[in-house]
Amino acid sequence: MCGIVGAVAQRNIAEILIEGLRRLEYRGYDSAGLAVISDFKISRLRRVGKVSELQKAIEENPIDGSIGIAHTRWATHGEPNETNAHPHFSNDTIAVVHNGIIENYESLREELKLQGYVFTSDTDTEVMAHLIERERKSSDSLLSAVLKATKLLKGAYGTVVMELANPDCLVVARSGSPLVLGKGIGEMFIASDQLALLPVTRQFMFLEEGEVAEVTRRDVKILAPDGSVVEREFEETTVQHDAGDKGKFRHFMMKEIYEQPDSINSTLEGRLAQDSVIIESFGNRAPELLDKVEFVQIIACGTSYHSAMVAKYWIESMVGIPCQVEIASEYRYRKTVVCKNSLFISISQSGETADTLAALRIAKEQGFLASLTICNVPGSSLVRESDMAFMTRAGAEIGVASTKAFTTQLTGLLMLAVALAQTKKSLPQEEISNIIQELRTLPNDIKHALEMDTTIETMAEEFNEKEHCLFLGRGEQYPIAMEGALKLKEISYIHAEGYPAAEMKHGPIALIDENMPIVVIATKKGHYEKVVSNIQEIKSRKGKIIGIVTEGDKDVRELADHVIEVPETIESLTPLLTTIPLQLLSYHIAVLLGKNVDQPRNLAKSVTVE
Ligand code: F6R
Repeated sequence: MCGIVGAVAQRNIAEILIEGLRRLEYRGYDSAGLAVISDFKISRLRRVGKVSELQKAIEENPIDGSIGIAHTRWATHGEPNETNAHPHFSNDTIAVVHNGIIENYESLREELKLQGYVFTSDTDTEVMAHLIERERKSSDSLLSAVLKATKLLKGAYGTVVMELANPDCLVVARSGSPLVLGKGIGEMFIASDQLALLPVTRQFMFLEEGEVAEVTRRDVKILAPDGSVVEREFEETTVQHDAGDKGKFRHFMMKEIYEQPDSINSTLEGRLAQDSVIIESFGNRAPELLDKVEFVQIIACGTSYHSAMVAKYWIESMVGIPCQVEIASEYRYRKTVVCKNSLFISISQSGETADTLAALRIAKEQGFLASLTICNVPGSSLVRESDMAFMTRAGAEIGVASTKAFTTQLTGLLMLAVALAQTKKSLPQEEISNIIQELRTLPNDIKHALEMDTTIETMAEEFNEKEHCLFLGRGEQYPIAMEGALKLKEISYIHAEGYPAAEMKHGPIALIDENMPIVVIATKKGHYEKVVSNIQEIKSRKGKIIGIVTEGDKDVRELADHVIEVPETIESLTPLLTTIPLQLLSYHIAVLLGKNVDQPRNLAKSVTVE
């Protein structure tokens, strides 16, 4: 989704802005632009397409200034063209970049038109630029003009404002769209994601909801929504500097698939005792709170929702308490019933997904016992606003299709199910010890599963002319089938559906013929015989079967056109292993089809709008 970079320094910042935008490319965008103050005017360059196009434009029309703002746009209002690209101007004196959506932009636009403002784009952002310019006329500073203007906005924004008359400061405002400030020596930076600024600083400070700030080379003045001054310190980040490099891999997605043994290791590190999960890993108050939990409500979107679905199987079978799972965008807009002593869990890679965040905020008003987030980004909104946070430690995930974030979420959720089972004494100690032992060997098992890579690459060739694919699984493997289908459609644009295997005969079976590939998860643990029967049904309709099986399997091998083996483990850990071949399969199919694996069309890494 859109990306923001800004800088106020004592050197030419054009290169810093471009490098920042390049590091945000993974979020998904369709045009890019930047503006700097130089020679007593605001100079702007915008291009449709990649940041490299903008860079080329700068090489042809050198642009030089020590204060500036830049943006990658993911179109919401108006098509992706140069006039709709940010920054947007008002009267050539105010320049604005904006992430998010202004919901009341049409009424504001009409009002501003009547007051003589001329619009050159279809965007909601241009409304903000004019609104700030109007408020500036009756304000003693840009900061107070922005504060006044934001009071008139409905919707979500992370915005940076630059003023020609004030070439020493930028003003930023945040509501629903993240912004982080970075401190250098005698210079300050702004971005929508700290990854953009890692080449120039490691000192960061996040802006909170509703805050507006004035950023100069040496100082930051933050105002709360009521106008009071907020004191906050910069803190050193723990995010790795090289998070934005592909290393020896051709794509970030592949690098991240291969990072899974390490990311799971980090997620487990320091959180397992000899024969148990350390319950405080979920927060200092976790022992007291988990003891009281009688019901679990999980909300998430996309891939994170699939990990929530797996968690439902784990929690209900291991802990014996009800667990409900819901897509965040549905939860937030319906009347829900909250049971006594319910734990609210949000799951999110980014920690900034608009629907998930909104659901958490609603939940906080609904009388839940407590809120817990399973999240990968320290300092993100979900982490800051939840009572407890479990960090998944996957490291920065750059490929738009989520891989290592998903398996680390599963790792954390399995640990949570075990922690609840320990607290409630719902599982025999022997079973808990067994899970802990298997968790310890999980990174190695994943390494082993990755060894099927070359076989899967060859298998992918069969998908060359396919337009549809089914993924089937039962029990805990059903959500994994859904995740396999999501991965394939996201990056290869092949239509794919994930189904509970037994549900096939209630409809999808009508699609099966010799042109339909069907990936069936048929590991030894969990409904094996029943899945084999489902495979027989596919076979008799000539469907092309790709079986994901346990090492040494014979029955499915006899029936399937191809099999991919994963190491044997206990039933609860199998979903983590069957995920690996499905990630590799979609990756290789997408590469063979020549698709943009890391930045699939229309998708964004962090969905900060509804
Ligand atoms: C799919 C994918 C998305 C995200 C979804 C939620 O590969 O990445 O479906 O899972 O947009 O994002 P987070 O987890 O950041 O809340």
